[in-house]
Amino acid sequence: MSSERVARILESQGFRELVSAHLFAAGVPLAPTIDDKHMLADHAREELSHFEVISRLYEQVTGKALYDVIGARASEVPSPRSWLEAAVAAYLVDRAAAVQLREYQRVGDPRLDRVIDVVLEHEHEHMAAAETALIDQARATPATAKLAEEHVARWFAIARGLLDEGPDTARVAQSFATSVRVALSACGIAPPGSV
Ligand SMILES: [Fe+2]
Ligand SMILES: [Fe+2]
Repeated sequence: MSSERVARILESQGFRELVSAHLFAAGVPLAPTIDDKHMLADHAREELSHFEVISRLYEQVTGKALYDVIGARASEVPSPRSWLEAAVAAYLVDRAAAVQLREYQRVGDPRLDRVIDVVLEHEHEHMAAAETALIDQARATPATAKLAEEHVARWFAIARGLLDEGPDTARVAQSFATSVRVALSACGIAPPGSV
């Protein structure tokens, strides 16, 4: 694969890792317990380290610093304003980032494969913890269930918008919807746009 294509992939994935880091970190002041704050802060740090792994390869390939290319745009993604919204936002964006990353395994570029392996190592844990936080909150009362549904509608669209545009977009978007279906169903919510 051309270095040009690898660079585009790294810009796109680096952007998602940085946005995930921001969303987990934005949840720290909103989280109700010290344990939850630790969990979010740990995840934010891991997402930053994913960004750095990607950024190191980007620098080798292009000679440029990835943060200079995508940092400003990553700061424009909205921030959650409640603990419930933080749980929804971080969960959905984290899932979109992981699903898109797994897609890059199909590319078959050894430089990308090394990065993908390192980054995916944390993702199982992120998924399990974020799912638990989301399900616990969303099911707490009928009012939180209703609110969670509204947050999901908004953040599902934002997360979906972070996937790469191209011939495979519909299939990747479907994988994303599938990957969040069980957790959302447990909250009584159907993934928006799913069949
Ligand atoms: Fe990540
Ligand atoms: Fe993650």
